[in-house]
Parts: sequence; C-alpha cells; structure tokens
Amino acid sequence: MADQPNPVSARTPPPAVWHYLENLKGEERLAWRKADVTDRPNPDERNLPHEYPFGWFVVDYSDELAIGEVKSIRYFGQELALWRGEDGVARVLDAYCAHYGANMAHGGKVAGNLLECPFHAWRYDDQGRVLDIPYAKVIPPQAKRKDCVPSWPTAEVNNQILVWYHPDRIAPIWDPVVYAETQDPDWTPYAKFEWFVYTSLENMADNGIDISHFKYVHGAPFVPEYRMTFDGRSRAVVADIKFNTPRGHVEGAITSITYGPGQSTSRFTGISETLLVSGVTPVDRDVLKVRFAFTQPKAQAEGPGANLARALIRDICTQLDQDKVILDRHKRMEPPLVCDGDGPFGRNRQYYSQFFASRNPSPKIAA
Ligand code: FES
Ligand SMILES: [Fe+2]
Repeated sequence: MADQPNPVSARTPPPAVWHYLENLKGEERLAWRKADVTDRPNPDERNLPHEYPFGWFVVDYSDELAIGEVKSIRYFGQELALWRGEDGVARVLDAYCAHYGANMAHGGKVAGNLLECPFHAWRYDDQGRVLDIPYAKVIPPQAKRKDCVPSWPTAEVNNQILVWYHPDRIAPIWDPVVYAETQDPDWTPYAKFEWFVYTSLENMADNGIDISHFKYVHGAPFVPEYRMTFDGRSRAVVADIKFNTPRGHVEGAITSITYGPGQSTSRFTGISETLLVSGVTPVDRDVLKVRFAFTQPKAQAEGPGANLARALIRDICTQLDQDKVILDRHKRMEPPLVCDGDGPFGRNRQYYSQFFASRNPSPKIAA
C-alpha cells in the first residue's frame, strides 16, 4: 500500500512524479511495476549503450527453484535454461540445443544432474558437454567438448542464484559478495519486490549518486550530508538522515554499497534496522529486472516496531517507483550538462567504465 501516509518519511510534497503515481494504488501499483511500457522510444533514440557490463548478476531466488526444476530465463538479450540437479546445485546454459536448436528450457527436463533436451533427449552437463544421446552409438567429438552449448558460471549466495556475465566469456574475475545477515537465523526471510525498469544499468548506477534528484523526485526536504567513496570495484555512499517519526526526529544513516554492476546493498540504521539486498540484471538493452529483497532483525520485524519496519520497506519501494517514472523514458546524455549542485556523475562514470570489456579489455580491476 504505497499510497498510505508514511510515518518514516520526511518527504515534502509535491514533486511532479507523485501526480503520475497517485492513482496507482495497491494491486494496480504492483502490476504497473512489471508491465511493459510499449510506447517507450527505441534504445538508439535514447542513446542506450549496446554493451552490458560484466560481473555477477542475480537471476533467481534460491527458494524459487526446486530440485529437478527447469526454468526459462532471459538476460543479456539471450535465452537461457536454468535448472537444479538432484544434487541441489543450480546450473545455467544457453537455452538452444546444439543438435537441432530446441529451446531446452521449454519442455526440457532434469535427468540426475543433467539437462535433457525435449526434442531428441540429448543430455548436457553444466559445462555444456553432451554426456548422453540415448539413440546414438557414438557421441560426436564436437558435442563432448566444453561449451558445445555455452555454459554460464553460476553461484548461489545470499539465498539468490547468480550468473557471471562477460561478453568474451572470460571466467569470473572475482567472487560474488556474501552478506552475513542473509544467513543469520535472527534475521527475517526476504520480503521480495520486483520491477522492470526500461533503461540501462549505467543509468541506474548514476541514480544512486544523483543527489539533486532526491528533492525533486523523492521529496527530500533538504539534501542530506553524503560521503562517497570509490574503491576498486566497490562504491559506497553514506548518507546521514533525519527521520520524522511519531516520536519526533530520529538520527539515522543509509549506507549503500555497490559491489560491481549487479550486486548492491543498502543498510538503514537509526529508525529501523534494515538490509536491502538489490539485484539489477539486464534483460535486454533497454530492460532491467530489478529485485529488492529486504531482511530485518526478527525481534524488530515481529515486535513493537513492526509497523515502522514495514513502513520503511514501503517507502524504499515507493522511491524506486518514482525513479521508474523518469528512467523508463529517459535519454542518456554523454556527457550530461552538469552544475555545481549535482552529484559526481563524471567520477561515477569513470568508476563504472571498468566493467565494460570494450573500455577495459584485459580487466585490471582492483581486488
Ligand atoms: S534439438 Fe536437442 S536433442 Fe535434438
Ligand atoms: Fe532515486
């Protein structure tokens, strides 16, 4: 119920985008978050990059893929097959079978730990090798090679399934980052929220350091004190915030850390301890799947502070709704025309360029 007055919000109406959202309530708002925006200008007109940055990206939640299940997923402009073997391990291959091109995620099945194609039952391991052809005496040598069907390095951490993407299929350069709270029995299971945002990853990354939009899109009464640090492949933004609550002002902080293009967290302290685990993954050149997963200490989420804890989550989701109104139809400016009150767009773009293979051909990413 994103439309209810929010006890943790210190927002001052009326930023323009609030009018756009005011009639979208409850279920309608949830549907809007995932609906196609069919009248959006094409990606060339909007100057969206042709290239996806490399790194680890969330493609599913662990508890949404059962043993023996095959799922069709689409990311990086490609059809992929995701499955979980009998051994519990999640695996990802390109979806199209090397034999006759069936999409193995549609009608394929899990055989032991292998993916069986629905067309002629060839069976693949997670390296993309054919290990079995039930009607052939000999498996062609080419089919036995690794990446006969291209394979995707896959990891499962933070109750999420991640794949490593690199346009040249270079092996992972770093490990996905693990957040201790997601394994802590004293913290709640995820509260999950999803959007399609019709823009590029780089534009989403700019949004986090765009300090001047907080007033005009999110209604912040003043620009909070920010500290930004760029360190190798991570970027931290720490903001000191005053929350308005029924008990008066409460001092708090928001620490947002980006660990590469696909993994980031925001920690909220002060009013209601909250960890937001974000996963933003490109589906196509102008489509991002955004996952927000919130966890909070159980003592807080189930105790007297439960209403505030829920309100904070609602407020954070509303902020992404507000950003989405702009980003769905936004054109990328290279470079943007900036002024002295803006965030460090130039520094952020320099930081972000390390994740593009065309600009960083032999990755020299700091540990
Ligand atoms: S197309 Fe997959 S086994 Fe023939
Ligand atoms: Fe924003």
